[in-house]
Amino acid sequence: MKEKLAQIRDKAIQKLNEAADLKTLEDLRVQFLGKKGELTGILKGMGALSKEERPVIGQLANEVRADIEGKLEAMKTALAAKAQEAKLKAETIDVTMPGKVTELGHKHPMTQVIDNIKNIFIGMGYEIAEGPEVETAYYNFEALNIPKDHPARDEQDTFYINGMGDFLLRTQTSPMQVRVMENKKPPIRIIAPGRVYRADEVDATHSPIFHQLEGLVIDKGITMGDLKGALAEFAKGLFGEDTKVRFRPHHFPFTEPSAEMDASCFACGGKGCRVCKDSGWIEVLGCGMVHPKVLEMCGIDPKVYSGFAFGMGLERVAMQKYAISDLRLLFENDTRFLKQF
Ligand code: DAH
Repeated sequence: MKEKLAQIRDKAIQKLNEAADLKTLEDLRVQFLGKKGELTGILKGMGALSKEERPVIGQLANEVRADIEGKLEAMKTALAAKAQEAKLKAETIDVTMPGKVTELGHKHPMTQVIDNIKNIFIGMGYEIAEGPEVETAYYNFEALNIPKDHPARDEQDTFYINGMGDFLLRTQTSPMQVRVMENKKPPIRIIAPGRVYRADEVDATHSPIFHQLEGLVIDKGITMGDLKGALAEFAKGLFGEDTKVRFRPHHFPFTEPSAEMDASCFACGGKGCRVCKDSGWIEVLGCGMVHPKVLEMCGIDPKVYSGFAFGMGLERVAMQKYAISDLRLLFENDTRFLKQF
């Protein structure tokens, strides 16, 4: 019986050593230690042994069981470690492999221009104001000193929402001047970028929807000198440090005096080129000192306060800056075009 037990131990240990997976280990456990297993079979025959032999064989049988169980555990641990190692190996990342290229989008050229201009004015202490694109005739015209018979009010230029009634799509960002002055006490220093609408036919330089940016500064003692200083600084920020500006007299109903500002051409420095159509200058914006009537209508005393305003078309700025010859390209959103900026 001693020999038999030793045989069982050797056979079990050998088989366990050869086991390649957990399932085989379990099968071997059943084969040797299970209820109908080989070791159990031996123990069942112990009744036939003598009193002296019984404890000796019993102890040996326990040792054999312990040896087999120990080997089982050791193999289990070893197999688990092996499996873990294989798993880690399979998951190894080869950092030298070429990566998958994810195409990155970027900001639309119009958004880039708007962000650029916003940042310049934010740097000068301006705040951003936003307002409705559906306006009333009061804000879009009346409060800006644009009289009833003004051609800009004509249905051919303005999209009215209810016939020739009160509601319209704003034709300019200037109504934001009124809205800000109504709601804020001076000192006021804001810019208001946004979409505006005009009943224009689409061509290379016109679109029924486009973008403008309005500026307004109101305080005690603001002069035309402040206007020129601020806008010259803006032009340098937008087109480069060497940019010069010039002001030409103009007329706007809501400013007095009014002017248009040109900047020296950033492409040729003023010598004349394709961008400036050989004039050396590019037209940038309209501006002026806020009309006393406008101040009054907004509840600001023109004897105490004065201020300047300016407004510019942003598509034109983008077209000049990026040498884009057709405004429609900015709205068609062909990615082959947009990718260039
Ligand atoms: N709103 C004018 C336009 O659409 C632009 C403009 C000119 C705005 C002079 C102003 C200004 O604030 O002072 O043509």
